[in-house]
Order: sequence, then structure tokens, then C-alpha cells
Amino acid sequence: MREIRIDLERIRENYEVLRRVARPAKVMAVVKADGYGHGAIKVAKFLDDDVDYFGVADISEAVNLREAGIKSPIMAWIFNSLEDLELANKHQIDVGISSFQHLQLLTHVQHLQLHLKVDTGLSRNGFTVNDLPEAVEKFMQVVESNNHSTKGIFTHLSNTNENEDNAQFEVFETAIEYARGKGLEFELAHASASNATLSYPGKHYGMVRCGIALYGLSPDGRDVSGLPLEPAMSVSSEVINIKRVPAQTGVSYDFRYRTEKETTLALVPFGYADGLPRAAEGFQVIINGQKFSQVGRIAMDQFVVDVGDSEIKIGDRVEIISDENPVAQIATRANTINYEIVTRMGSRPDKTYGGD
Ligand SMILES: Cc1ncc(COP(=O)(O)O)c(C=O)c1O
Repeated sequence: MREIRIDLERIRENYEVLRRVARPAKVMAVVKADGYGHGAIKVAKFLDDDVDYFGVADISEAVNLREAGIKSPIMAWIFNSLEDLELANKHQIDVGISSFQHLQLLTHVQHLQLHLKVDTGLSRNGFTVNDLPEAVEKFMQVVESNNHSTKGIFTHLSNTNENEDNAQFEVFETAIEYARGKGLEFELAHASASNATLSYPGKHYGMVRCGIALYGLSPDGRDVSGLPLEPAMSVSSEVINIKRVPAQTGVSYDFRYRTEKETTLALVPFGYADGLPRAAEGFQVIINGQKFSQVGRIAMDQFVVDVGDSEIKIGDRVEIISDENPVAQIATRANTINYEIVTRMGSRPDKTYGGD
């Protein structure tokens, strides 16, 4: 009745495309937020034999991967407690170090593999250029005293425009030089997520961190049609009721839609509880190869499509997201980005997996 299908083989192929783009840099497969809604454990298991790194936000996400048997290096960059760091130690999870509070916590644990985060302008996590002298000194001290090791130095971009990105790269390179000048040794510098990986071939450093492109989707504002990236998620449902109605029939809550003339309404059991935003009202679906507009309020469990005089039957498949009906149109309709749509997709229906 409701199907969210994930093609794991496409994810692997997308990973290989990103590897070719980034070579000789490594590619981190970002699987946070349950693999952007694609199923982190399924995706990670599928890639585990041949992946450079996995990336997640929370330590708990990394622990879930380890407990599922994932062997490849994993890095996590959001945490706030000693318990998190103890788990990172126990499960061999690299951590991003972003604040003086983090440096303090590091004095209570041993043997962690670390990546120092520089805030080059995004104003989220990381040490600013002003903080860097004190941060690098304290960082090197705690690495030495607590037997930690330094794996990398990293930053994250705002993707505002080329000028702003270049300004961030410049700050990053100054920070790298400064840290190296102070004697900090590390193997990997990394700054670019999907957008910058595809936009700035000269800025891959030692590794890139790709999330959205791994799932075959375009980073916000960037056209990837020239690359053989293929969307891994498709979403479909079916028509479960058909109704012929006269002109001026009100449809769904608040009667935000009234039929102009006599028409046929098809009911589809997929709603915001399944991850389809209520704000996407008016998005397009495909039934039997024909495009139709969803009409009226999207409800918790269902929506209505005005199919006019088309011969649509109960049981006909409804493509909500497919190669022919990309997630971008739902995102645009809902005034958001494709990331948010796929990440929230599937709170109720089970996902089914192909390609494995
Ligand atoms: C630090 C960091 N690196 C990489 C990524 C991956 O970004 P994208 O999905 O745009 O490739 C994210 C995602 O937000 C992130 O927070």
C-alpha cells in the first residue's frame, strides 16, 4: 500500500562516481540521520567492504553502526559528554573536536583518534581563527598527555557562493599552515561536502565528506545532471478509492480545493505521517505514466488526486518519488530542500531494499 524502496546498488555506484571525482582524496560516506532516511545500517553494511570512512553526527549513531558489525573507520562530530567519549573509545570512533569544552573532556579519556575542527566562517562548531593559538596549544598538550592521536583537521562550508566558499578555504589553509607550523601532525585535511566536492576539484584536500550526492541527489543549488549520480530512493503508493464528483465539490480539510467541473478524484493512502510534508500541497504524482496534481490538504494518512476524466482504477500504482518524478518537485512545493524530504521519509512504512 505504501512503499519506500532503496536501491543499494545505486548508492554503491554513486560512491564510486564520487571516488572518481575526488581521487586521489578519500571519500567519507555520510550516513547520519539514518543515512538521510535511506537506512544507515543497510547502507553501511552494503559499503563496508570498500569504503574509506563513514561519517555521522552523533556518537550514538556511530555506536549503532559498530554494533551492527561495521568495521570501517567512522567519524562523529557532535557530542557533549564524557560518556560519549568513553563510547567513542570503546567502539573506536574518531571524533571531531570543536570547542574548549571538548578539550577539557579529552583530559578524562585516553586513546581517541581526533580531528580538530576549525570554524572558517559557518559560525557553528569549531575553533575560530582567534581561538586557534590557544586551541592548538591545548589540543597538542592533551593529545600528548592522554595518548590520543590526531587523524585530521577539518571545517564545513556555508555553500553561500563561490566567493564565500573561497574565503572559507583561505581561512582553512591558513589554519592548516598555522597548526603544522606549531608541530601538529595529521594525515587528513577535509572541508568539502557534496556541493564543494563537485564544485571545487582543487579543494578536496585529503578527504571529502559526501552525504546527499551519495544518495544520488543534488546538493542544494547545484546541477548534477552532468554526473551519473542516480537517486536511490523511490516512493510509491496506490489508489484505494475512486469517486466521480460534480463541479464545486470541496476536497479534504478546509476545502482548500474545489473541483471546477465534474471530475474523478483518486484517494492515495500516503500522508504526512509517512514523511510527505503537508506543505507540499499541490505536488505532482504519476499514475499509469500520466502526471496529475495532488489537490487539497495533505492529511496525516492520505491525499487526493484530481485525475479529471482519466481511466484510473483502484489498485493503480502512484509514483510519489521516482526517476520520472524527482524528489526536487516535492521539495520546491514545500519550500524546502531535497535533504529534508528524504531524511523524513518513512516514519511509518517499512523500507524495502533492492540491489543487495
Ligand atoms: C560536517 C558535515 N560534513 C558533511 C556533510 C554532508 O553534507 P552533504 O549532504 O551536503 O554532502 C554534513 C551534512 O550536513 C556535515 O554536517
